Amino acid sequence: MLRNLKLKLQTRILLSVSLVTILMMGAVVWFDSYSLQKSVEETYMSQLDGMTTAINGRYEESHNPKDVQQIFDYIQFKNPKVLQLTLYGKDEITASTDRTKIKKPTPMHIQSTLASLKKTRLTHLPADNDGLNKDLLMSPLKEDGMTMGAIELVLDTSESAALVQNRIRIIILMSSSITILLLVVLYFIIRGRLIRPLMKLRNAALSVKQGAAYKDISLNASQEINIVASAFNEMVHDLESRYLELQLAMKQLVESEKMVALGNLVAGVSHEINTPIGIGVTAASFMEEKSKQFQTLYRENRMKKSDLEEYLNTVRETTGMIQANLHRASELIRSFKQVAVDRSVDTKRRFNMKEYIKDVLISLQPNLKKTKHHVTVRGNEGIEVLSDPGAISQMITNLIMNSLIHAYGPDDEGHISIDVIQDDQELIIQYSDDGKGMPEEVVEQIFHPFFTTNRGGGGTGLGMHIVYNLVTQSLGGTIRCESKVGTGTTFYIQIPLNEG
Ligand SMILES: Nc1ncnc2c1ncn2[C@@H]1O[C@H](COP(=O)(O)OP(=O)(O)OP(=O)(O)O)[C@@H](O)[C@H]1O
Ligand SMILES: [Mg+2]
Repeated sequence: MLRNLKLKLQTRILLSVSLVTILMMGAVVWFDSYSLQKSVEETYMSQLDGMTTAINGRYEESHNPKDVQQIFDYIQFKNPKVLQLTLYGKDEITASTDRTKIKKPTPMHIQSTLASLKKTRLTHLPADNDGLNKDLLMSPLKEDGMTMGAIELVLDTSESAALVQNRIRIIILMSSSITILLLVVLYFIIRGRLIRPLMKLRNAALSVKQGAAYKDISLNASQEINIVASAFNEMVHDLESRYLELQLAMKQLVESEKMVALGNLVAGVSHEINTPIGIGVTAASFMEEKSKQFQTLYRENRMKKSDLEEYLNTVRETTGMIQANLHRASELIRSFKQVAVDRSVDTKRRFNMKEYIKDVLISLQPNLKKTKHHVTVRGNEGIEVLSDPGAISQMITNLIMNSLIHAYGPDDEGHISIDVIQDDQELIIQYSDDGKGMPEEVVEQIFHPFFTTNRGGGGTGLGMHIVYNLVTQSLGGTIRCESKVGTGTTFYIQIPLNEG
């Protein structure tokens, strides 16, 4: 969960700096208070050492505890911070500012520490009800180098403790102010030199994405970001020039594709037309030959009745052949003319799409009547388009004729549906039959000129090529074919509602 928590760069930097500063502040406060405390303690210990030396001297001289008691009382009188002074002998307490303790046996825990007490020791006493901070110092009392007892001093250290506390407070206050100042300065530096320039870069990238005209970005940012910005500028210029190159290459490619398509078309036209014209020419020369022979027989008066009959038969057959082939050639030429969609003539008008398709189907009744197929037109009655009705009619005719010829056998009962669907500013005509369908390689070539699987049956392979040109050029749309062997074929035709 925490790992997923993505913080802004700025927040992250500020948080890290705060954390480091707080840690550093803690360390400074701890070190400072520790060293102050230590130096205070050392002062106390050296004070007690001084006292002990004085008491030691006096005691060694007189061996009289009363002298020590006098010194104790004097010290307490002079120094109000001294709460209690006690002299522990090996067995009993010999002097103390607390009179009730005198002559009492030395407590066991002190007796046991006497042997190991070589120099002054300091212990912080736990706080009790009087609210004072107290330290307990214990220093060995020596005679001829031997520890004879110990002097115990209880000191009121409230004043020095307050001093340390005060010092800590001041340090915390100062370092907090410095931290806040640092963070504010850092915030503005990060914003000005890092975040703002990065935002500018991002906006520039967005405007490039949206295709707006690009203006070089110049940033007053940190050196690294300035380097990124100039690399970004270079990249955009590079992209722009590459885009132009690509556009040029694409144009050239389209042009050369067009030339190739035209070349193919011309080759296809000459190939297709060659056959009927060739047959016509052969038949005509054959008839010329026969006529010559017939003329010779006539001139030489050798002509019999059977010769006349044979000649007449030949004339009938040959002219029939010539006529059929010329007809085929003229049919082909008519189809070729349709391939080149005439875009100079403005044939657009506003019409109701569903009604118009129904009218086209009525005109196809002579062909449909001979079959058992059912044709259904579905869709919203009110869809109107501004488009080229001639192109729609030609397209529907070619699609229906293809279904009749290629999708169904002579006795099949097929279902053909035409759906008219409006989608925003687009019109989708979905044409489906439930016939034989096509294998993938046929679907791939269906819009190519002269591609047909029915050459023997008189197909030219121009029907779907014409449909393709009508949809993409006259109607300004797109067409796509989906088909599977055994399940039927669907064409998706998408055209604009108003600009066809
Ligand atoms: N509805 C369909 N069902 C099955 N196959 C189809 C269908 N429509 C087209 N085809 C296949 O696509 C090929 C190309 O069709 P296209 O209309 O271009 O040529 P054609 O019908 O063979 O000849 P033309 O239309 O020029 O007389 C057809 O030969 C046929 O194999
Ligand atoms: Mg066809």
